[in-house]
Amino acid sequence: MRITKLLAISGSLRAASINTALLRATARLAPPGIAVILFEHLGGLPLFNPDIEATDSPSVANLRAHLAAADGVLIASPEYAHGVTGVLKNALDWMVGSEAFVNKPISLFNASPRAVHAQACLRETLTVMSAQIVNEACVTLPMLGAQLDEAGIISHTEISAALKQALQDFQAAIARLQAEDAAQIGMSL
Ligand SMILES: Cc1cc2nc3c(=O)[nH]c(=O)nc-3n(C[C@H](O)[C@H](O)[C@H](O)COP(=O)(O)O)c2cc1C
Repeated sequence: MRITKLLAISGSLRAASINTALLRATARLAPPGIAVILFEHLGGLPLFNPDIEATDSPSVANLRAHLAAADGVLIASPEYAHGVTGVLKNALDWMVGSEAFVNKPISLFNASPRAVHAQACLRETLTVMSAQIVNEACVTLPMLGAQLDEAGIISHTEISAALKQALQDFQAAIARLQAEDAAQIGMSL
């Protein structure tokens, strides 16, 4: 069985982040055939500066390599002042000049229904980077708040079912997109 590899990126560096807990829980809920790897090094990226873009620091190369190895990307980010967090935008800015997000299937997890501005910003940025947002695999969860940690998310019947469903929908969409790409390459040969 071919494993669908998903890279999970949290926009929060907070130790008790609900977004990171959500992605950790998703990794543990993944059915056989789906592997979710949490990228834990966003905070180690330098601040983006076009003057140093060509130097390709090891942390930037590491993010790019993780993205290249992933069939799809899960992103969960808090909203800060009606935008995405600086740490996530910084990571995306580092990837703009490469092909890292081009045609990459993306699922957006939103842990806070009121955080509509950050989701809209994220969609706009990813779209201009030519990523493929898979709408059927995007989930907005009821306000999780501080009361639900990773274990709490896993044991919450409705939330864990929604996460498993999103993963399955994402896997199906990725398989469809990969088959379409293969057919297009076949036609152009
Ligand atoms: C600097 C800052 C700005 C924030 N701005 C917003 C905001 O504009 N809208 C919103 O809904 N929540 C806002 N929040 C609340 C966070 O989005 C919320 O606490 C979120 O759960 C944090 O995610 P985390 O637990 O993954 O770190 C803000 C929090 C901080 C620290």
